[in-house]
Amino acid sequence: MAVRPIRLFGDPVLRTPAEQVTDFDRELRKLVRDLTETMLDEGGAGLAAPQLGVGLRVFTYDVDDVIGHLVNPVLEFPDTDEQDGPEGCLSIPGLYFDTKRRLNVVARGVDMHGEPAQLAGTALMARCVQHETDHLDGILFVDRLDAETRKEAMQAIREAVWNQTPVPQVKLSPHPIFGKSH
Ligand code: NI
Repeated sequence: MAVRPIRLFGDPVLRTPAEQVTDFDRELRKLVRDLTETMLDEGGAGLAAPQLGVGLRVFTYDVDDVIGHLVNPVLEFPDTDEQDGPEGCLSIPGLYFDTKRRLNVVARGVDMHGEPAQLAGTALMARCVQHETDHLDGILFVDRLDAETRKEAMQAIREAVWNQTPVPQVKLSPHPIFGKSH
């Protein structure tokens, strides 16, 4: 198993647009394998390469028992229908907020061998594809919330256990100074 640690909100790699994949080599196949295994281990609906600290345009998905991956995805929306419902992210663990998304999407790209691949999704699959493709552009789902919900989300993130930085140790002088010192 190559389950790798997931980068959390605040990590700059999650805010960096990922690069197009140009080398369809062993390393890419390993990346797809690691993404898939980490996603399954975490029970996520999808995982994008930047979440493992890799700045490449690759994501995996596991929606309604359909497991797969897509490289260099480009999204098209066949209509203007929308959906609204709870969304979460493995990089923002434990927090879910209603997020508006398009209801239907067609994602075109290639697979890890460089062969053309297409993924047409609706409902949860469409939500997943939009969420993961956002990751490749350095966008997180909290960016998609309406202003009020976003405020609530940022507050919850600040208070989240996984976001607590250790309190810096205050170094005390071994010779406390009472009064003035010269
Ligand atoms: Ni995510």
